[in-house]
Amino acid sequence: MSERDQTFIDRCIAQADQALRTVFAEPVGSGRKNPAQSADNNELSAAGKTTSVRLMRINHAGEVCAQALYQGQALTARDEKTRSKMTEAAIEENDHLAWCRQRIHELGGHTSLLNPVWYTGSLALGAATGLLGDKWSLGFLAETESQVGKHLEDHLQRLPENDSKSHAILEQMKTDEAKHQATAVKSGGVELPVPAKKLMTLMSKIMTTAAYRI
Ligand SMILES: [Fe+2]
Ligand SMILES: [Fe+2]
Repeated sequence: MSERDQTFIDRCIAQADQALRTVFAEPVGSGRKNPAQSADNNELSAAGKTTSVRLMRINHAGEVCAQALYQGQALTARDEKTRSKMTEAAIEENDHLAWCRQRIHELGGHTSLLNPVWYTGSLALGAATGLLGDKWSLGFLAETESQVGKHLEDHLQRLPENDSKSHAILEQMKTDEAKHQATAVKSGGVELPVPAKKLMTLMSKIMTTAAYRI
């Protein structure tokens, strides 16, 4: 069955599969090489490991949210082209998810126990913005990617300097998120009103604070 022929129900079933993979298993990515593979494997101090695990857990939780937002928007996007762009970006977000998860496990940590909560909330939010129409949905996406980019920049400063593997992952993610943002704007995303941006910042603050610890 071609993507064009897919019904809403088909998309819901694919969505359920994607949700379970994102939260509980290894999602299917683009097949790109994990950038950490070519980075130095330096020995971190105990404190350094704790910091890296906490920051990478936030990044992983952020990717869970991004995945759910994209999936939610793809579910309700009206334009076929918009939908396929969302699906394409979601595949790259899967790479990010896998890389972060792998690094957390290498460092002996665990992903956020609240991931099912982040996923459900973000999926609903994505579907709701998708219903507002593609220009808002793409605008929301562009703003999300821009805020994620700022977080990544901040985390690159806060990670232990010798954690080359986490640095390599975040650098590649930063490049990808900037590309996703540009694509969303180019595809017709509009600038969101300031209160909407502030609300998004507040929500991400709640998520990052919780994921840092749990
Ligand atoms: Fe991402
Ligand atoms: Fe992204």
